[in-house]
Amino acid sequence: MNSDQRFFDFLKARIGLDVTSVGPAIIERAVRQRSAASHALTADHYWQLLQGSENEQQALIEAVIVPETWFFRYPESFVTLARLASKRLTEINNLRALRILSLPCSTGEEPYSIAMALLDAGLKPHQFKVDGMDVSPLSVEKARRALYGKNSFRGHDMGFRERHFSAAGDSFRLDQRVLEQVRLQVGNLLDPALLAGEPPYDFVFCRNLLIYFDQATQKQVFEVLKRLTHVDGVLFIGPAEGAPLGRLGMRSIGIAQSFAFSHQNAPVPEPFPLFVPAPLPVQKQLRSAPPTSLRSRPFASVAPMPAAAKKPDSDTAGLLANIAALANEGKTAQARVACESYLRSHEPVAQVFCWLGLLSDVAGNALEAQGFYRKALYLEPQHPEALMHLAALLQAQGDTAGARRLQERAARSGRAADSERKR
Ligand SMILES: C[S@@+](CC[C@H](N)C(=O)[O-])C[C@H]1O[C@@H](n2cnc3c(N)ncnc32)[C@H](O)[C@@H]1O
Repeated sequence: MNSDQRFFDFLKARIGLDVTSVGPAIIERAVRQRSAASHALTADHYWQLLQGSENEQQALIEAVIVPETWFFRYPESFVTLARLASKRLTEINNLRALRILSLPCSTGEEPYSIAMALLDAGLKPHQFKVDGMDVSPLSVEKARRALYGKNSFRGHDMGFRERHFSAAGDSFRLDQRVLEQVRLQVGNLLDPALLAGEPPYDFVFCRNLLIYFDQATQKQVFEVLKRLTHVDGVLFIGPAEGAPLGRLGMRSIGIAQSFAFSHQNAPVPEPFPLFVPAPLPVQKQLRSAPPTSLRSRPFASVAPMPAAAKKPDSDTAGLLANIAALANEGKTAQARVACESYLRSHEPVAQVFCWLGLLSDVAGNALEAQGFYRKALYLEPQHPEALMHLAALLQAQGDTAGARRLQERAARSGRAADSERKR
């Protein structure tokens, strides 16, 4: 039952999943799994069962989705959210609660991280509400249970776990106080009636879903996300998911590692201080300041250099900053040319290969992106960004074990860098 286009088309129409973005293997495996579970003997037989049963359709969707998520994924974005939320409350004179959307919310780690970040930043429970939504009823059910194993805790700052969870055997149960801030529901980002009639949100998180869509679906979905984001609001997306946003009237708010966008005519937020308030679980290595020009953009090279890596001289730093600026302005072709020209005239550096990987990723060329991330890791085996992006690519292709290995490597390198600094 290989490469059966009917199943690819079905999943594309129902949840936007694009076979060229994820690779056929992940879909074929899900179809095989569901065929076996429903005792279908042939592809045609399973196709008929699928057509006749809404439950089977949902089961196939459950088998194919990637629910991978964890608490405080991209920690900087939660720091940014906390800052912007306080500012937004002042702007609206505290007249209503902030409205925040996490879509897709998967098993709840993202919307609950939002709630914990805001409570830790001193917001009162009545000052904000979070809506979490996902196409997978099983994931939403797990989110409601709010009982998490160690896989959901991947950073090295576990202060939030001590503040907001209690131990329950091998797992951790989220406190009621956080739970009550989040309303969970099943919903499909492709549904034309999605959240129709709801007022727009001050903050929208839509991360690690757009990478599974083709460009046409991404455009359609971005229009929806734009509608859901208040004109003075901010949209948070995943790394390398923002390329089409410039053309759709949104622009980066310029805060590194936050992947945050506002409407084109909204005012640009003031620069943030370098130091981040204590309680939030910020990856400590991000505090070591990269050159200013590299600090303010989502594509920028904020990946910390390992202690042993050579610092670029000023000419090199200027060229690297130029590449980051081009990439951030959405000038991906020029950014690529700049990377290639850099590599022709300089010693190869991991960061440039990592950018080439990101640019290929954005262009939808996962295979090429993988090659570039691997080159980056050959030069700098613990390069955090390259590890993170390659892990995401492997995960999307169904190679969970490979992705896990890279994530563990990234976590180990984070811990090593931490203890190095403490010495
Ligand atoms: C990788 S998780 C991302 C979770 C979280 N946003 C994060 O970044 O950690 C992707 C989620 O997208 C959900 N999903 C897939 N297609 C969807 C759709 N069309 N509408 C809503 N959710 C969808 C899946 O069920 C899965 O839980």
